[in-house]
Parts: sequence; structure tokens; C-alpha cells
Amino acid sequence: MHTNDRTPVTVIGLGAIGTALAEAFLRAGHPTTVWNRTAAKAAPLEAKGAEHAETIKQAVTASPLVITALTTFEDTREALEPAGAELRDRALITLNSGSPAAARETATWATDHKARFLAGAVKNVPSAVGAPDTLLYYSGDRSVFEEYEPTLRILGGDTVHLGDEPDLAALYEMAVGAMLLPALVGFFQGAAALQSRGLEAASMVRFAGKWLDMIKSLLPIYATEIDTGDYTDAASSVNLFLAGVAHDEDLTRETNVDTSWLTPLHDLLRRAAEAGHGEHNISALTEVLKKQPQT
Ligand SMILES: NC(=O)c1ccc[n+]([C@@H]2O[C@H](COP(=O)([O-])OP(=O)(O)OC[C@H]3O[C@@H](n4cnc5c(N)ncnc54)[C@H](OP(=O)(O)O)[C@@H]3O)[C@@H](O)[C@H]2O)c1
Repeated sequence: MHTNDRTPVTVIGLGAIGTALAEAFLRAGHPTTVWNRTAAKAAPLEAKGAEHAETIKQAVTASPLVITALTTFEDTREALEPAGAELRDRALITLNSGSPAAARETATWATDHKARFLAGAVKNVPSAVGAPDTLLYYSGDRSVFEEYEPTLRILGGDTVHLGDEPDLAALYEMAVGAMLLPALVGFFQGAAALQSRGLEAASMVRFAGKWLDMIKSLLPIYATEIDTGDYTDAASSVNLFLAGVAHDEDLTRETNVDTSWLTPLHDLLRRAAEAGHGEHNISALTEVLKKQPQT
């Protein structure tokens, strides 16, 4: 029995993200129903006041707003299938990673079940869910976003609706997310090189942070170059980066740290130079990335 006027919310999928979502709603006083395939994961949330639905049908019917946080769109459809009829007229919001095509497929599936559908993405780690500057974006049925925006802001203060096309959140999620692994592996490589000299990874954190600040400051400049197709103001040319390739090879010899993950990036630089971009700014790599290499 719900005893307050806050929107009842159902959270389906109680992994790291789903648990963080449910905890944020509970902290904000929303009647929160939870369901997970492995039921034991609901116990800590029940202890904090959540209703634990035994079946997916009960979970869906408990709230007008149903939020899923499963691993993939395919998992989400599979888990929700037994409650397909119960989704009718409910707001369904997915908060998993996945491709734009998988988001479109899920939007069609949801619409076929007469659900009102938004696809979203959490652009942060689980511990940041609920913080004022945490970014989540959504795309799809704008009326769902407008109706539930105050509730969605509980999950992160930087809450954005990207547009009516349901695959936009997945597209931006993948576009921005592409930066994560190269940046992190670069940091891990640097940490390994420092450790090979008996230095702690912690000693590079301040400097790596400033490096990321510098990269951040360049993004609007590069975006303008990419959008206009004018790469001629070459503050950091492709050829300059190519000259640095030998330094990576020297570092491997000196420290025994594996830098082979950089080989495809070196290849990208060479292909850019071969395509006539050697004296262009490094953002001209985008032109090479637009075409798959011939095999
Ligand atoms: N963790 C992060 O830092 C982070 C940050 C942003 C976005 N994300 C995205 O958020 C989504 C969830 O991530 P997570 O970290 O919460 O993952 P997780 O901890 O591995 O949890 C996955 C959840 O999906 C459920 N699940 C998977 N396949 C299922 C199926 N076929 N049927 C029913 N339930 C199924 C699991 O249920 P069981 O407990 O029964 O296995 C579990 O509740 C992913 O798409 C991830 O990429 C994660």
C-alpha cells in the first residue's frame, strides 16, 4: 500500500546500476517495487523499504513508470516478454547500453505492446546515480519525459531529452562511450610504465587529470574542424603524432610494457598521412574513420 503522493516506480534488473537506481528512488521517498531474475539481490533493497515483486507481471503492474537496467536490449525484451500485456499504457524506460539498432528494435517491440517508450543511458558509474551533476540522457516519447522529468531527475541532475527518435540515446551513448576504453588503457599503460621504475600509479593522477582537462579544452575546436571539414589550422598535425610512434616502440623496449594495443592507432595515423592528411590537424583522422579500411 502506497502512502505518499510520489510516483510509484518499478525497477527491473538489480545489478550495479539497477540497485543504485532503486536506492535513489527509495531515498527520495518514492514507492519502489523491484524485480530481479536472481531474486536474492532484492533483499538489501527490501530492507530499505522496497516492495519485492515475485513475478515480472507483478513488477510491471505495480507502477505506471517501469525502469529497466538489464545488461542488453535483448535481455530486456526477454525478461519483459511474460508481462507484455501488462505494459499497455505504461511508461517503459530502458537504461542499458546497446546499439541504436537494438534500441529501435526495442522501441518497436514496446510500441507493439502499447507501452509508452523512452530509451535512456546512465553516463556515469553506479555510485554517481542520484548526484546533482550526474548525466542521464533519454530519447523517444517526449510525453513520457515531460510527465516524469522530476522523477527522472532523482537519478541525476543533468537529465536531457535528446529527441523523439528512440535510438538517439543509444547513439550518443556509443559516440561518447567510445572515448572511455582508449583513455583508460592509456592511463593503465602509463601506470605500468611508472611501476616498471618502482614509481606508484598514484604519482601520475594529478598530471593525468590535467592532461584530460587539456583534451577537454580541445574538443570544441576539433568539433568545429570536423563539422566544417577544414583541418588546415594544424596546431598538432597527423605527421607530428606519426613522429611519436617511435617513442611508443622505445618505451616498450625500455620498460617491457606492452604497447601493442596502440598498433591499430599507429596504422590509422599512417593511413591518414597516405590519404593526404599528414599536414592536417589530428582531427582529420575522423575522415579516415568514416571509411572502413579495405581488406
Ligand atoms: N556498471 C556501470 O558502471 C555502468 C555504467 C553505465 C551504464 N551501465 C550499463 O547499465 C546496464 C546494467 O549494468 P550493470 O552494471 O548493472 O550490470 P550487472 O551488474 O551485470 O547487472 C546485470 C543485470 O541484468 C540482469 N540480466 C541480464 N540478463 C538477463 C536476462 N536475460 N533476464 C533477466 N535479467 C537479466 C541481471 O540479472 P541477474 O542478477 O539475475 O544476473 C542483473 O540484474 C548495462 O547495459 C551497462 O552497460 C553500467
